[in-house]
Amino acid sequence: MAKFNFMKIMPGVKELYAYPDSPTVTLGDMSYISEGDVENLVGEGPHILIGKFAEIALGERFLCGQGKDYKSTMNFILDARGYGAQFYTECPILPPPVNFPTRMANYDQVIIGNDVWIGSHVTILAGHRIGNGAVIGANAVVAKDIPPYAIAVGNPARVIKYRFDPETIRKLQAIRWWNWSLEKIYENLQLMVDSPEEFANRFYFPELEECPPDEIGNLVRELKSHGIRIFTSILDLEMKKPLWKKIAEDFATSNLKDSVLIFHEMDGNISREQFQSIVDFVEDLSQNIIVTKFSKDALLETDVLVTTKAFSSSIAIDLLNGKDFKTWYAHDPISLA
Ligand SMILES: CC(C)(COP(=O)(O)OP(=O)(O)OC[C@H]1O[C@@H](n2cnc3c(N)ncnc32)[C@H](O)[C@@H]1OP(=O)(O)O)[C@@H](O)C(=O)NCCC(=O)NCCS
Repeated sequence: MAKFNFMKIMPGVKELYAYPDSPTVTLGDMSYISEGDVENLVGEGPHILIGKFAEIALGERFLCGQGKDYKSTMNFILDARGYGAQFYTECPILPPPVNFPTRMANYDQVIIGNDVWIGSHVTILAGHRIGNGAVIGANAVVAKDIPPYAIAVGNPARVIKYRFDPETIRKLQAIRWWNWSLEKIYENLQLMVDSPEEFANRFYFPELEECPPDEIGNLVRELKSHGIRIFTSILDLEMKKPLWKKIAEDFATSNLKDSVLIFHEMDGNISREQFQSIVDFVEDLSQNIIVTKFSKDALLETDVLVTTKAFSSSIAIDLLNGKDFKTWYAHDPISLA
């Protein structure tokens, strides 16, 4: 178990580490955690991805890496791989083989949106997503996804109401004020505080929800028309221990039928040679993996977003708001997607 707190309110992406080189918590602009535990932190997998302007109160518990295969004969961890390995390091008996077969559903990531407020002593089970603008009441146990702008309380957390009417929620999610500069937020703060509805009406334009078609988007729609499932991931090249190669290798060996994986390069700062080396790497693995410069049009066609520890996954989830898509975390077995 690791304890985290990050009380500073700061712009930019922040990362909190329990292990070197691979963050356990990634926080967007301004977000903070008063104090939280990430439980069963016995490997680099568990991860909390937090959007911008999120307030995480005291005594939170994130239960990650708890995906035991209770449908097997035994609940007991007889798996010497991954986090199972730690239990056998000083064991006087012969540990089970490293390639012990397992069906462990190892849900390892919690995803929290922008402008979320999580009350004190909330427990969040990994594998779940909390939408933009949601409020989680004190002591709740979040055991399923919480929709945007919902207020959820209790154990299991259930939605008791929404912060605003559906039209205002839709407009606020299109405006995405959390991407504004602080200057622009301060300029409009009074209106934001006094009247969310008026704020939403003033700053919403239908163009915010439009996306011009492009070549890669057309290709993806063509694939979907043939029943192909679209997996999308954003290349996490900025990370010290990027996961994109693992994602590509897992996808290539997963036996997933009728599926294509599309990697988007969102950063825009890589050289042509580096981009080509990524293309070469994935082409050697599978002809069902494509690498492209970022295309919002293609992203919006995603069926399954394969998330990483990089903040770009939070941006992709925000862009996909309102779409019907699943998330799959890079450390979870992709074969179960
Ligand atoms: C979730 C919350 C924001 C709702 O506030 P609210 O809109 O004023 O809610 P109400 O008091 O009107 O309660 C609405 C209903 O939810 C119930 N409820 C409210 N908060 C609850 C909670 N944390 N757990 C269980 N039930 C709760 C109320 O009993 C009431 O039930 P009823 O309709 O059967 O009478 C608030 O109750 C809360 O938990 N805030 C977190 C406080 C905190 O942890 N602060 C830490 C510092 S940031």
